[in-house]
Amino acid sequence: MADVKSGMRRNLTAYGDEEFSLFLRRAFIKAMGYTDEALDRPIIGITNTYSGFNACHRTVPELIEAVKRGVMLAGGLPVEFPTITLHESFAFPTSMYLRNLMAVDAEEMIRAQPVDSVVLIGGCDKTVPALLMGAASANVPAILMVTGPMLTGNHKGERLGACTDCRRFWGRFRAGEIDAQEINEVNSKLAPTAGTCMVMGTASTMALCSEALGMMLPDGAAIPAVLAERVRNAEATGARAVAIAKERLTPDKIMTPDAFENALRVLFAVGGSTNAIVHFAAIAGRLGFGLDLDAFDRMGRETPVLVDLKPTGQHYMEHLYEAGGLATILRELKPLLHGGALTVTGKTLFENLDAARPAEAQDVVKTIADPIFGGGGIAVLRGNLAPDGAIIKQAAATPGLMTHTGRAVVFESLEDLAERIDDPALDVTADDVIVLKNAGPKGAPGMPEAGYIPIPRKLAAKGVKDMVRISDARMSGTAFGSIVLHVAPESAVGGPLALVRNGDRILLDVPGRRLELLVDETELASRRDAWRPRDAGPGDDRGYRKLFLETVQQADRGCDFEFLAPKVTMRIPRSS
Ligand code: FES
Repeated sequence: MADVKSGMRRNLTAYGDEEFSLFLRRAFIKAMGYTDEALDRPIIGITNTYSGFNACHRTVPELIEAVKRGVMLAGGLPVEFPTITLHESFAFPTSMYLRNLMAVDAEEMIRAQPVDSVVLIGGCDKTVPALLMGAASANVPAILMVTGPMLTGNHKGERLGACTDCRRFWGRFRAGEIDAQEINEVNSKLAPTAGTCMVMGTASTMALCSEALGMMLPDGAAIPAVLAERVRNAEATGARAVAIAKERLTPDKIMTPDAFENALRVLFAVGGSTNAIVHFAAIAGRLGFGLDLDAFDRMGRETPVLVDLKPTGQHYMEHLYEAGGLATILRELKPLLHGGALTVTGKTLFENLDAARPAEAQDVVKTIADPIFGGGGIAVLRGNLAPDGAIIKQAAATPGLMTHTGRAVVFESLEDLAERIDDPALDVTADDVIVLKNAGPKGAPGMPEAGYIPIPRKLAAKGVKDMVRISDARMSGTAFGSIVLHVAPESAVGGPLALVRNGDRILLDVPGRRLELLVDETELASRRDAWRPRDAGPGDDRGYRKLFLETVQQADRGCDFEFLAPKVTMRIPRSS
């Protein structure tokens, strides 16, 4: 590596004398025990996203060892470095609040250190988008790998998986169908191995879409976390990381509009998490591509759901892996894909597909002619309640509620929801529309996965399983129901959701893509005049929280900080 900008000479600490900077750097790195010969190799950074709180990343130390082996076999010098890590259940107030912090950390550490390429190891929901956002901005050759999905558990002869079944069993417990002892037993079985949630939640969605985006080695998304094949995938990733360093294969050459459109196609075809829309808006935003929600809706109408996985179907990720993984999905989607998109292998998507393991008889990935759900598995709604759009995953909703008019039952905040949802005196029926305010990007803050508003206990006890629910929050990809999400602009900035009052009528018309507050405009104008933002809360005036509140963008811009995304130069998906 003779290039002055490679290896130990990259990104020298600024002392005003580059040769002295290099002299000092080599002196300190030698304290790690490296020889000059080792230090002359291409330097491959490996993000260490392990944490004792992150069970989804429990295997990261083993994967790092395998990546290092691959790097050394290919002639590079592997150097791991820590980054922030985020687990869904261990990030207060919500992992989404911290995703941008992790993205900034990843970007700046990649930029600050002398890495010729970097292996990004992610897995749990926010880690993959954060790493890709950081890598896109740093634009150093990068290759992603994920920790892989968990295997399923078993309860009384029934397969169990995090976390669709977490919600299903919790709903049964709330409805009094199972007792405290049984829910405790289930609690020990829902996450039986290391790895990410094994349903089509955000982690699985982001893994499959990122492979389709071209940032991961083929087959990398679906290999279960605990298989030996996962470790071999890590070794191969390490070897390829050396090659992309030499080829200077930077993320901007891979994450093109074609590649994003392939990823978005896959999002629809896998019946993926609505969270991926926000994340891909943020990743694409780092490269100057803005998400066009209406074009996204049109793409969805022509892309059926093919993958029969929970929560929309019946299988789990281990079954998708056995069925051939992403390659089986891509083969079915071929006419809708940009096959010439370059990937991190240095080959195109379709060249990779030609080399993929052959398809076998399977029943996890359906055909376009006989899908799980026709087009529009995720639909974009507009109307006077969501001028900048809202999302519904109708593939995981009750068909009979997709055209519905009901009376609004309003909760002003998450705290209000927690206090009153189970109040026996709550005035609510199964035909009502539950509205949650102040749970969006600035409102909560951090746009938590609170959109899966629980069915009021008194209705759940009567067997009510689903109701129309509307909020400016997100929902876990593992959840299901007739739930409208990402209402924009959010209520905390005075969006129309802020104006809804108890007893108003709301129209949901998914076939017509409408979401309307049936209140006349004069009344709405008077409510708008009377609306005032909430007072600042404790801690809002300092630190990361202040930065977040002042600069986070709405869901359609991926909830990225406005100063991190360049000006939009192109809207995606382009017309198909
Ligand atoms: Fe980490 Fe579900 S909690 S992937």
